[in-house]
Amino acid sequence: MEKILVLDFGGQYNQLIARRVREQHVYAEIRPYNKITVQEIREEGYKGVIFTGGPNSVYDPRSPHYDPAILDAGIPILGICYGCQLMAWRGGGEICAANTISEYGKTAFTHRSSILFEGVPEESVCWMSHTDYVKTVPAGFTVTASTANCPTAAMEDSGRKLYAVQFHPEVTHTQYGKEILKNFIYGVCGCRGDWHMDDFAQKSIAYYKEKIGDKKVVCALSGGVDSSVAAVLLHKAVGKNLTCIFVDHGLLRKDEGDFVEHTFTKTFDMHLIRVNAQQRFLTKLKGVTDPETKRKIIGEEFIRVFEEEGRKIGKVPFLAQGTIYPDIIESGSDNADTIKSHHNVGGLPDVIDFDEIIEPLRNLFKDEVRAVGEALGIPKQLVWRQPFPGPGLAVRLIGEITEARVRTLQDADAIFREELEKAGCDKQASQYFAVLTDTLSVGVIGDARTYGHTVALRSVTTDDFMTAEWTRLPYDVLEKASSRITNEVKGVNRVVYDITSKPPATVEWE
Ligand code: XMP
Repeated sequence: MEKILVLDFGGQYNQLIARRVREQHVYAEIRPYNKITVQEIREEGYKGVIFTGGPNSVYDPRSPHYDPAILDAGIPILGICYGCQLMAWRGGGEICAANTISEYGKTAFTHRSSILFEGVPEESVCWMSHTDYVKTVPAGFTVTASTANCPTAAMEDSGRKLYAVQFHPEVTHTQYGKEILKNFIYGVCGCRGDWHMDDFAQKSIAYYKEKIGDKKVVCALSGGVDSSVAAVLLHKAVGKNLTCIFVDHGLLRKDEGDFVEHTFTKTFDMHLIRVNAQQRFLTKLKGVTDPETKRKIIGEEFIRVFEEEGRKIGKVPFLAQGTIYPDIIESGSDNADTIKSHHNVGGLPDVIDFDEIIEPLRNLFKDEVRAVGEALGIPKQLVWRQPFPGPGLAVRLIGEITEARVRTLQDADAIFREELEKAGCDKQASQYFAVLTDTLSVGVIGDARTYGHTVALRSVTTDDFMTAEWTRLPYDVLEKASSRITNEVKGVNRVVYDITSKPPATVEWE
């Protein structure tokens, strides 16, 4: 199988680069820069290497460096952002570390003729996020693109198949990013494209059938897309040896618990245990307001509940989870900053009772998971559900979590979703929900003063959830939702709409 190596220097978009490569039907693997040598890269037969971005400056001795022999290993390389600077610096070029010149956001760039820019108009928009830039390219290299503030937006030594871009072709904000990566993968590396998601499903089923054999596996099922796909995949591999445990932690959307129970028992004929642990979670979360603490408590409590249920069904060596790539990267890798601890990664307690954790989807992005779901024959309405975070409404309730606040949020959220869907806007919105803020404000009803809660509505449009745009919802949809929420949800007298994209915000508020 053809494969591309994504050499990880600690940037936030590293998983996205791999995702973009696989979107072109070429398998991509991510390896930390300090866990693989040039010799190993050669031996493993990668068709090409992509140097990722990273938060450092090449001149900082603590920043990730790499053996310069890689530049002469005869393997095509594409350097991105920090990876571009590293390639220039390792090749003998000069990097400008002036703190005053930084480019961030959508930026116009112009290119010259290059295999990398085939099919890309001479002028287009790229996504920049850097302070340092390449001032002088190394011997043998030529500059192939520039912007108003960055003389070297791209450079190459085509003879040695070394290419680099200062911008990020992997994010959708770069207009022709897909084409640029495709040109590298097919044009430079000579790949033909032999990676397909239905292979992944069939291979995974065979793999887990063999690995689990007639032992038992417990799957943590939330009813969201990821855990549902993981559960169906494992169900196809081991049938009744799979027990799904669905923990109703009381932080689900309105009527969600009953929906999940019904779907998996009636549609899939799976062995499902629903654990009603609402009070248990509320007690643990009492008085907690810090987002990371909430996440850790919920993660730990989840595991405890699974352990207890697992014990009731005898020795269970395997615990399965629907962890996916973005969960892992955003929980922090060796090199990247921790943004937030997703409940099924950073929240894991140190001591757990299972011999092994199985995460069949840990290398996939959300849209890849959906493709696997479809390949497995899961109904479209379940596969294309909007995602729902494991910690549930806890990360949408700013401040303390109480039963009354949960109910307020559930009601407001159900109204917003209903109005958005009724207007057909769910086609353009990838995720939409309400947040109960901790802000109280003064209002008026009739002649009386109110001092009530503020609900924030959030809707984002994205295909990978690593970056996202706020959805341009029609005003009348927002107005209808706002009016219904303030009329129908007791104690809420103000509704605001969140118009922040990711970055700089994240999708969830906590
Ligand atoms: P953020 O807020 O990190 O969210 O921009 C990106 C996507 O991940 C979902 N999310 C989670 N999913 N466990 C999950 O399974 C979590 O702890 C978690 N936190 C965020 C979020 O809803 C969005 O789709």
